[in-house]
Amino acid sequence: MDKIIIRGGQRLSGTVPVSGAKNAALTLLPCALLTDEPVTLRNLPRLADIDGFQHLLNQFGISTSIAGARPEDFGRVMTLQATRLTSTVAPYDLVRKMRASILVLGPLLARAGEATVSLPGGCAIGNRPIDLHLKALEAMGARIELAAGYVRAIAPDGGLPGGTYSFPLVSVGATENAVMAAVLARGTSVLHNAAREPEIVDLCNMLAAMGAQIEGIGTSDLTIHGAERLHGATYMVMPDRIEAGSYACAAAITGGDVTLTGARIEEMEATVQALRDAGVVVEAVKGGLRVASDGDLRPVTLTTAPYPGLATDMQAQLMAMLTLAKGSSVLTETIFENRYMHVPELNRMGARIETKGRTAIVHGVERLTGAEVMATDLRASMSLVIAGLVAEGETQVHRLYHLDRGYERLEEKFARLGADVERVGND
Ligand code: UD1
Repeated sequence: MDKIIIRGGQRLSGTVPVSGAKNAALTLLPCALLTDEPVTLRNLPRLADIDGFQHLLNQFGISTSIAGARPEDFGRVMTLQATRLTSTVAPYDLVRKMRASILVLGPLLARAGEATVSLPGGCAIGNRPIDLHLKALEAMGARIELAAGYVRAIAPDGGLPGGTYSFPLVSVGATENAVMAAVLARGTSVLHNAAREPEIVDLCNMLAAMGAQIEGIGTSDLTIHGAERLHGATYMVMPDRIEAGSYACAAAITGGDVTLTGARIEEMEATVQALRDAGVVVEAVKGGLRVASDGDLRPVTLTTAPYPGLATDMQAQLMAMLTLAKGSSVLTETIFENRYMHVPELNRMGARIETKGRTAIVHGVERLTGAEVMATDLRASMSLVIAGLVAEGETQVHRLYHLDRGYERLEEKFARLGADVERVGND
């Protein structure tokens, strides 16, 4: 297995393109299940998770083709067509590797009247149940059966009637599944307390381009009028606000000056505010975002929350940045109960972070030192890379497959910015 070696101490400077958003792509891809016409996605990031999802969709009989991908390009164009579904089962083998596979449940149910998906099981960042996905589908008229580690959702004859559901807590994935199921229902569905992350707006916009009728896009109350059929569309995946935020933290900790082309400041306000509070200059520039810092970072108090609050997916990277702030920062994680696995690894690099339940206190230190480290999830792995960029000596981040799930050609992008980062095999 590959690992990444970082020799710290280079100030990042220059321009780097932001890739298409992984989490948007993972909910746009299953939209291809909703029509027999071709669906084309542009700006699809080249990531292991996207390849995995493509493979999963192929299992259902969806044809996929990739066009115009020169090796030097970021992003790809994929055309998907579900002329006829040959299976409605998402097997354990594939779901186990990629939790987002659960996002086929809603669209499969809507299109085929039934879907069988392996339960995703435990996950490194907490329990991550799918009860809300199932309750929302039930409220739309589905019957849910659980057996042998699989969930089976069945629509009544003639399709889902549609219905009203109020989410007791905000869930991105459950909202996505519910929206994708509702667009082909016989009647109208209303979702209250829906997630309104920019990725959900992207999903609704793509569905609208396919002919769906959705009111309230961007708000927490969505009204979806079911359509008899949807048609094909060509759609451009939104830029990855988490990737952009991660590179912003990297720029800030190295005292760098980086322009992130394609980043949209209006979708990253909480992250931008956190960076500014820490003393980092963040400004919208033509076509992107400029992030600059003299390396003098102030401590901040941050709490993760559903959008428009601070994304839990930015917590680890901001924490890495704050290890060198002049004072103590307080971070509270409210979305996932077990999302501090990067803390012991950052501490092995010389950080001084204490955790108590959902709160982490980050006492700023003078310097970090390189070490061999590894992380158990994607964003935690990125936090170790960020720390490594400024640590004295060499940092080796193992289990690179986590980073490959969510950061397109990371070592190449960092190299463009002047970092000394190398991927080597045989971890
Ligand atoms: C998505 C993102 C992930 C991000 C998260 C929160 C994708 C592929 N992943 O994950 O990167 O960290 O949103 O912004 O887009 N919950 C339940 N029951 C459910 C569903 C969720 O209790 O049925 C809980 C979860 O355990 C968690 C909270 O709700 O505590 C939010 O999770 P959710 O928004 O669903 O996250 P994901 O969609 O899995």
